[in-house]
Amino acid sequence: MSSDDVAGYKRAAAARALEYIQPGMKVGLGTGSTADLFLELLAARIRNGLDITGTPTSERTAERARALHVPLADLNELERLDIVVDGADEADPELILIKGGGGALLREKIVAASADRMVVIADESKFTDRLGRFPLPVEVVHFGHVTTRTRIVNAAARLGYPRLTPVLRRASDGGIYRTDNGNCIYDCSFSEIRNAAALAAALSQITGVVEHGLFCGLASVLVLAGPGGVRVVERQRP
Ligand code: A5P
Repeated sequence: MSSDDVAGYKRAAAARALEYIQPGMKVGLGTGSTADLFLELLAARIRNGLDITGTPTSERTAERARALHVPLADLNELERLDIVVDGADEADPELILIKGGGGALLREKIVAASADRMVVIADESKFTDRLGRFPLPVEVVHFGHVTTRTRIVNAAARLGYPRLTPVLRRASDGGIYRTDNGNCIYDCSFSEIRNAAALAAALSQITGVVEHGLFCGLASVLVLAGPGGVRVVERQRP
């Protein structure tokens, strides 16, 4: 499959997600290459008269949205959102996600938790029965991050992942990568996550961990595009 094919699938998923946007909605704007395509399509609709207010999940998306003249407001002003449209690094049939490949997991999760509906857009290659092939990003405070890494390794071992080797994410200049919130990220290759809810709960309890990229119970709609066309997987929020 060529990169042009994949880009086409991402665009097809993004286009389908536009059907969920209604006039007057408060819309969370995701981060990543698929979310960028949605933003471009949304901006075209806005130019044709659609009235929505967006709130970005990253500085990168905020910059792109401003360049496209998408009306933005701070999440604190909007409080509750009608919907967020975002990408994912992996998604399973229960609509549990791994996110944060682009480093925006914390704001993405805050925005998703503030929205009535989370629509995830992706090409079919992101859909998997077994999460964990993509390394799980874990955002940690810079202070004492090496000690936090040890606590992550120990917690993983207690859950039956004895050989976890979290890798500190680096920026393109070789320095430590910093998120929009000034934190670091450890990318954790689990290979196969057997119980996402248990792992999510354990990671959330670790001192020094700010957030992790497992999104459990947040996504309500998954729009997947591939060679066979676009399909939609839905899940009711409890
Ligand atoms: C950003 O932090 C991520 O959660 C992205 O949503 C995820 O990496 C998907 O990105 P792509 O759409 O570029 O694959």
